[in-house]
Amino acid sequence: MTVGQGIAGGKIILMGEHSVVYGQPAIALPFSKVAIQCSVDFIQGDNTVDCDFYHGKLSEAPVLLEGVRALVERTMKELGKENDGLQLRIESNLPAQRGLGSSAAVSVAVVRALYDAFKVDLTEDVLTELVGVAESIYHESPSGLDATTIASGKAVFFEKNRGKKYLPMSIDGVLVVADTGVFGQTKQAVSSVRTLWNNNPDHINPILDRLGELTMLASECLETNDSVMLGRTMNEAQALLRQIDVSDDRLEHLVEVAIESGALGAKLTGGGKGGCMIALCSTYEAANYVSQKLKEAGASNTWFYDLKEIVSHE
Ligand code: PMV
Repeated sequence: MTVGQGIAGGKIILMGEHSVVYGQPAIALPFSKVAIQCSVDFIQGDNTVDCDFYHGKLSEAPVLLEGVRALVERTMKELGKENDGLQLRIESNLPAQRGLGSSAAVSVAVVRALYDAFKVDLTEDVLTELVGVAESIYHESPSGLDATTIASGKAVFFEKNRGKKYLPMSIDGVLVVADTGVFGQTKQAVSSVRTLWNNNPDHINPILDRLGELTMLASECLETNDSVMLGRTMNEAQALLRQIDVSDDRLEHLVEVAIESGALGAKLTGGGKGGCMIALCSTYEAANYVSQKLKEAGASNTWFYDLKEIVSHE
């Protein structure tokens, strides 16, 4: 019998991926078209997990579940319970490793399900901190942006070590989110930017600073409903992300097709080197056309995201 349930959506980084790791601001939006659900049953014996690619003891699970193992251990400690006798079932329609926050979403769903199972109230701060345990295993020095956005389910303006504020959203526009169909490589991308930064900080720092400025500009655009300017900031961000070598040919191609098909702006989203891109369109009609062209150009899937539907709180 299910004793606990937890659900979490994905996230989209609108602006500021990679530069956020270096203390620049970033904006991320909750993405509830895709979600992960975790349910918990109490059983006798060792913890077990059932998911798409593994059914068995959590202690013997493949490396992809290493973060979940560490997370369950830490969460049970936090709850003051023995770390055994749990059966976790994880179901998802959130594609993994596409820059949509699947690892943080799994963690949020698992922690929510465990707290629900033991009927203990869970604050957003505790949730974000616990999710950080698994994120540090999956990503190199994670900024905390994914965990913060997914745990809150709100549009977030985020600065590492400074915290977050929720963004008022009053912009007209529809994002087309397109999947290249290729696994993104966040860990490698973050570490290759770190190598570039170590080798040539004078070249990389101005790029990271400009990405930070573009995030500030984008945040103004969200407030003032300036989708044309937002599109321009996205295009400039994409050019800078290309310079720090986190884009790839497929992402570049989809970005180019989106712009040629009338998008106001387009860029990769998340860690890059595969994964997803986003294109800003002024109307659903324009977004439909862009989405069709992106599919013709090889996108494996597309989603529409009405920016007005985002939950936002002051
Ligand atoms: O690929 P994702 O969805 O995990 O996003 C990573 C975002 C980065 O800025 C590249 C890394 C980070 O820790 O913020």
